[in-house]
Amino acid sequence: MPERAVADHGARDAVTVLPVRGLPEFRPGDDLGAALAAAAPWIVDGDVVVVTSKVFSKVEGRLVAAPTDPQARDALRRELIDAETERVVARRGPTAIVVGKLGIVQAAAGIDGSNVRRDELALLPADPDASAARLRGELRARLGVDVAVVVTDTLGRSWRIGQTDVAIGSAGIAVLHGYEGQTDEQGNELLVTQVAIADELAAAADLVKGKLGGLPVAVVRGLAPVDDGSTARDLVRPVHEDMFWLGANEAIARGRGEAVLLRRSTRDFADTPVDLAAVRRAVGVALTAPAPHHSSPFRFGVVRERRTELLDAMARRWREHLVADGRPAEEVARRTARGDLLRRAPELLLAFRTGEGMHTYPDDARRLGERTMFTVAGGAAVQSLLVALAAEGLASCWVGSTIFAPDVVRTVLDLPPDWQPLGAVAVGHPPEPLTPRPAREGELGQW
Ligand SMILES: Cc1cc2nc3c(=O)[nH]c(=O)nc-3n(C[C@H](O)[C@H](O)[C@H](O)COP(=O)(O)O)c2cc1C
Repeated sequence: MPERAVADHGARDAVTVLPVRGLPEFRPGDDLGAALAAAAPWIVDGDVVVVTSKVFSKVEGRLVAAPTDPQARDALRRELIDAETERVVARRGPTAIVVGKLGIVQAAAGIDGSNVRRDELALLPADPDASAARLRGELRARLGVDVAVVVTDTLGRSWRIGQTDVAIGSAGIAVLHGYEGQTDEQGNELLVTQVAIADELAAAADLVKGKLGGLPVAVVRGLAPVDDGSTARDLVRPVHEDMFWLGANEAIARGRGEAVLLRRSTRDFADTPVDLAAVRRAVGVALTAPAPHHSSPFRFGVVRERRTELLDAMARRWREHLVADGRPAEEVARRTARGDLLRRAPELLLAFRTGEGMHTYPDDARRLGERTMFTVAGGAAVQSLLVALAAEGLASCWVGSTIFAPDVVRTVLDLPPDWQPLGAVAVGHPPEPLTPRPAREGELGQW
């Protein structure tokens, strides 16, 4: 055989998958090691004994008595799935993809009614790695052989139609073979390839075992497995590394539910600059807010060059108001000098409602009603802006002071007389990523 440039996990020669025939139908308490040693005395050192998990479910008594009536059986199955579920990843009609007690993502938490008596359902073995280690020890004791054991279950795959067998338990074999840092025959460095050997063995053995029962064990020969102490549990991707820990529809629904709850008034920001493209997108969302008479009377803008000029002018007006109110000089100085969020914020947005689309009336009452209606709608637009900013990962605080100095704002920014300020919005990156808060308990009035 020519020398290979790659040290890989593959066998140097053919790999054979051998059926273990003549095993009995197992029941709780049966001695699997004894049965296997009797049925396959030909097992030798270096073999990988691949066992369908259902066999362990049976001998370990992980069977639940179930009614034979299909509806009642299904109801019990659903109950068992709930009990075995740590977290629901996705649900579509009767199909539930869940994280089970072993951390494995699979349909129905591995609760299975195939290849068991019609009045029973099978749960997965409680600890398939331990089951594998026990069987490995028994085979060593009975046959004097050093083998690896892989315990399998049948799983669907996202992105691929059809199920394949994978390893849910193992002993005596390195479950992964990493190629990181090695080069292939063309000289390409393999950066991320990690071959899940135990899963490949499970799938290969299934070619011989099949799904119709009677052949729950196969032996893979020719691979000469290396034992690095790893087990099938090491193949479970930790949730914080899982890019797909929630089904797509569930993730969308969750995002929708949390969007409004992400917003909160933030008064201290991180130094990270704000991408105005994100602000522009949020303004685009805000402009979809409802407005009276099919009008589009709201305007938003960032103040950059004229920010200090504007805030100084507003502070002067505030000071004048406080002095006119007869406030003591010390209080006036203290209040107007208070650390100003609008000066500190990485970006400052201003919101206005114009007179566009407003109806005119001959009497004050209806004129006031019309103005109030537009102002209320402006509030909805600003809230939409804040929510859209939060969805962009940006924090904000709505500050009402421009409402109290409309003429100052219009003068400093050269705005038309019908532009009514709806407040300013301080915008920046939050010091910590925004997280949704719980909705409040609210009374729904009824009249
Ligand atoms: C019209 C309006 C004006 C506001 N003005 C100020 C303000 O001048 N300064 C400030 O710190 N917060 C201001 N806020 C934010 C409120 O204080 C804040 O919404 C409230 O405390 C609730 O906190 P939350 O937004 O985190 O839910 C204003 C909010 C609104 C709706």
